[in-house]
Amino acid sequence: MGINIALDGPSGAGKSTIAKRLAERMGYVYVDTGALYRSVAYNVISKGADPADSTQVCPLLSGIDVKLAYENGSQKVILNGEDVSDKIRTPEISMGASGVSAIPVVREFLFELQKSIARENNIIMDGRDIGTVVLPDADVKIFLTAAAEERARRRYKELQEKGDTSTYEQVLEDIRQRDYNDIHRDIAPLKKAEDAVEVDSTDLSLDEAVEVIYKIAEDKIASKKNGSVQKKHESKEIAQIRPVKRGKKLSPVRMFLYSILRPVVRLIYKCWFNLSFEGTENIPKDGSNIFASNHRSYSDPVFIALPTRVPLSYMAKEELFKQNIFFTWLIRFFGAFPVTRGKGDTAAIDMSVEKLEMGRNLVIFPEGTRSKDGKVGKGKTGVALIAAIAQVPVIPVGINFEGKLKFRRKVVVRFGRPIRPEELAVTSVSPKELKMLKTKIMDAITELVY
Ligand code: DC
Repeated sequence: MGINIALDGPSGAGKSTIAKRLAERMGYVYVDTGALYRSVAYNVISKGADPADSTQVCPLLSGIDVKLAYENGSQKVILNGEDVSDKIRTPEISMGASGVSAIPVVREFLFELQKSIARENNIIMDGRDIGTVVLPDADVKIFLTAAAEERARRRYKELQEKGDTSTYEQVLEDIRQRDYNDIHRDIAPLKKAEDAVEVDSTDLSLDEAVEVIYKIAEDKIASKKNGSVQKKHESKEIAQIRPVKRGKKLSPVRMFLYSILRPVVRLIYKCWFNLSFEGTENIPKDGSNIFASNHRSYSDPVFIALPTRVPLSYMAKEELFKQNIFFTWLIRFFGAFPVTRGKGDTAAIDMSVEKLEMGRNLVIFPEGTRSKDGKVGKGKTGVALIAAIAQVPVIPVGINFEGKLKFRRKVVVRFGRPIRPEELAVTSVSPKELKMLKTKIMDAITELVY
């Protein structure tokens, strides 16, 4: 049994290009399952049948022999002995594939072929239902998305290079229609597997997307090898409520240095940006609070720290601590602590609760990544989990500026009313309570963002 990586997502999110690159880098076989549906559509259309009509498609299946072959590492699709790899890439076949893929008998017809390839090789398989239906036990599951406009732009460019005359509007309309078909079909609809990691490639270059997914895959495979049993045990232990004792004082030297440095940095920031704060009355005077903010720029922790009397801590990726000594000292002084990615969330959560216990405030960006368009994305549950374990208030923060952060840019930082887990009767870390708390936090952040 090989290692299986399932890569699902809507049309044009970059799955095939990324999967090919990953397969090359990891020495895996790339399996493009969309090509199988396309071959069926190609056969059906070339026989003059309607690919969306099961009564016309089903009788043709017995005459279809489709195989995937590999030549110099690239996948070839062989339909009844003919190499159709290029012929199946037209807009007409794309739409036809979307039609045949909604027919249960077609899916069954291709199911065993996909399973058998995965059984025998280390594979990266891309499709729509790989993580949910074809390989529900895949070692790694990724759900790759991107905004429809961006996917249409990429596909339009690709088609133009091939000499296709479709307009951008047609390509976008096609993508929307296929999304609709893929999501709304009754059988194996396009949806993220519960245990899949979602990666949004809208603002990522191809190299960046490959890198992100490669790291996720490597981490998952490594942690699987290191024994998942131990990990489960650990996560049980951290998920106990252990309210932090409030009122703990930080060292007077640190507080003194902080009280001197803060106005200096504030002055620099006020000169550099057109910066203002709203709702500062909501900032607690003591420590052991969580500030949950939307994430727009690398300056966000500073924006939150400037009106806050007690120093903040925030997670930063481990790599940042391997730069020069001064930089490392500086970010540590300003509250960054390293998170080792791939060691699971447990270490980061433990560390966060420890910082709250020390009397520090904690900044968390629940979206996990910076938003380029300013819209508040989906939050992760980590913030609710930490707040529930430590039973500390969460102060929502909205950081607002238009476009990119640059010299004299108007920046408005808004602080909302604290959200207290105990007031919401969050007294355990049950998924239901965490979801409710997370929703409250994300809604509050969204209200502070214009
Ligand atoms: O990924 P693609 O665009 O080549 O896929 C072509 C069509 O096949 C697409 O509309 C969805 C469908 N498909 C599917 O239903 N299940 C898969 N595993 C792969 C593709």
